[in-house]
Amino acid sequence: MLDIKYQTEYGKMICGRCEDVLPELSGCRFDLIFTSPPFPLNRAKSYGNMTGDEYLEWISDIAAELKGMLSERGSVVVEIGNAWNKGEPTHSTLPMEALLEFKRKGNFYLCQEFIYYNPAKLPSPIEWVNKKRIRVKDSFTRIWWLSNVPTPKADNRKVLEEYSMQMNKLLRSGKYNAGKRPSEYNVGQTSFAKNNGGAIPSNVIIAPNTTSRDRYIQFCKEQKYGIHPARMPKEIPTFFIKMLTDEGDMVLDPFAGSNTTGWIAEQLKRKWISIEVEPEYIAGSRGRFPV
Ligand SMILES: C[S@@+](CC[C@H](N)C(=O)[O-])C[C@H]1O[C@@H](n2cnc3c(N)ncnc32)[C@H](O)[C@@H]1O
Repeated sequence: MLDIKYQTEYGKMICGRCEDVLPELSGCRFDLIFTSPPFPLNRAKSYGNMTGDEYLEWISDIAAELKGMLSERGSVVVEIGNAWNKGEPTHSTLPMEALLEFKRKGNFYLCQEFIYYNPAKLPSPIEWVNKKRIRVKDSFTRIWWLSNVPTPKADNRKVLEEYSMQMNKLLRSGKYNAGKRPSEYNVGQTSFAKNNGGAIPSNVIIAPNTTSRDRYIQFCKEQKYGIHPARMPKEIPTFFIKMLTDEGDMVLDPFAGSNTTGWIAEQLKRKWISIEVEPEYIAGSRGRFPV
């Protein structure tokens, strides 16, 4: 029986280990599975003491389960945080191996790799960056967009950015320096001087993640719930939900934490299911939604 902790107009928050919950949802098909799984090297106590290989096996088994839950042209977007090897200034390759294993076991296509860059990231690891000064700030993570098909549903026109001042000037003047660039790329006059409603974004998503006084934090403080330590900035799920789904589509987050995914899906009128193992994070996430 599913342990549904709360429901909203569009979604449900389920408490449990996703390994146990997913088989119960096997009849569902999702247009987007968007998630940021736990990373055991950093969180060994909370998430069990899996070794690198155990972690790889665990995460890749979940990929195989998720594969069968995608709609025909659905996408899986997975973010895995960086990690350093304990006690030395060397970067762990486990996050990259995990992404590769996830792709391999799910037999997915890699549609595109994204970088989530947090310009406000505090210097870390402290020992090597601040004290010994032999490394620089670690301020990005990888996000992989995967699918069962090479052409999942996607439309970059739904995530256009504002044109730069320079581009607006160019659009006003209509004058563009067309012709061959040193890179041999041939810039045509018509395509570049045309107003397409905004600039096509790149695969680097910049989000500072500095919110300290939002409704969620206020609710957790009032109710004395622990604030989730690894919340995702809203810009990331917003980008992928907009680009890869339409209103009424189904979104799943099997490692929901503070339910940033469900919260954004709700605002964008997508149906959502979120799964989280820690009841306290679920209780706190309730504060994201109006009662
Ligand atoms: C990186 S956090 C996700 C944070 C989330 N994206 C947010 O914005 O709050 C990973 C979450 O997975 C949860 N978790 C760990 N193992 C789990 C499991 N087997 N099934 C479901 N959730 C799990 C952890 O409690 C943690 O909240």
